[in-house]
Amino acid sequence: MGLFNNLCLLSLLLISVSSTNACDRCLHQSKAAFFSTSSSLSSGACGYGSLATRLYGSHLAAAIPSIYKSGSGCGACYQVRCKDSKMCSKAGTQVIVTDVNKSNETDFVMSARAFMAMANKGMAHDLLKLGVADVEYIRIPCDYKGKNLTVRVEESTKKPNYLALKFLYQGGQTEIVAIDIAQVGSSSWTYMTRNYGAIWDTSRAPAGPLQLRLVVTSGYDGKWIWAKSVLPADWTIGGVYDSGLQIDDIAQEGCGECDEQNWNI
Ligand SMILES: *[C@@H]1O[C@H](CO)[C@@H](O)[C@H](O)[C@H]1NC(C)=O
Ligand SMILES: *[C@@H]1O[C@H](CO)[C@@H](O)[C@H](O)[C@H]1NC(C)=O
Ligand SMILES: *[C@@H]1O[C@H](CO)[C@@H](O)[C@H](O)[C@H]1NC(C)=O
Repeated sequence: MGLFNNLCLLSLLLISVSSTNACDRCLHQSKAAFFSTSSSLSSGACGYGSLATRLYGSHLAAAIPSIYKSGSGCGACYQVRCKDSKMCSKAGTQVIVTDVNKSNETDFVMSARAFMAMANKGMAHDLLKLGVADVEYIRIPCDYKGKNLTVRVEESTKKPNYLALKFLYQGGQTEIVAIDIAQVGSSSWTYMTRNYGAIWDTSRAPAGPLQLRLVVTSGYDGKWIWAKSVLPADWTIGGVYDSGLQIDDIAQEGCGECDEQNWNI
């Protein structure tokens, strides 16, 4: 694809993203429940599998479809607090989206660990007994403290041409809207598509070593990120590879109606 085509694609992608946003950066009022085991979350729709339990200290959440966004909301981080000031702290806790839950009663179904982390000292048991809590939440940038954006080659991969990658430790407050892949040193890029959740694939993968370029939402716009060397020539199924970069962009949205709301502590 030429630069011009890429720019057209970029604007199309960004238009489609902004028309489906749920004003992430607004302060939202809702309810949250919890799963009694985190296994139901780690087998979640985002496809993180057992790796999920290593994300955000197992502070995982299944979110409503408007947050899950057909998978592009996977890996997004939220600050959530319960509104009962006797039981819960004002800071609340942070969760990462690993699953979708279509229940319209709660915006999040959290891991018990995350749910209890909203409680004041000594109140976790009472909060659990309550089961469903009134909460407010706001999207925040994910911070993986020293980890880079990382890919894992999924088991569905079939060498030589079908390649499925799971994206892990995506920092910032953005969405990946497009991914291209090429052999290192080649300018013959092939696009990948979101298969589901955090998994992207292509049936036209070139031979390794492989580089990636991503379009992420950033500011009111988008930007390219270029990972110059991700998969080695001898990449393996199940292999986990450091992209050598991290995303710290924050995507803005036109959310006029919430501009006055703040997360006051
Ligand atoms: C949604 O969450 C509720 C808990 O509030 C749980 O009982 C239900 O099984 C979940 N549904 C799905 C599809 O995960
Ligand atoms: C949830 O959906 C059901 C069925 O569509 C509806 O009857 C109910 O009022 C909804 N509840 C909320 C809180 O929106
Ligand atoms: C992240 O990438 C940078 C640049 O390639 C590298 O120097 C660093 O070691 C990586 N960090 C981790 C934790 O792998």
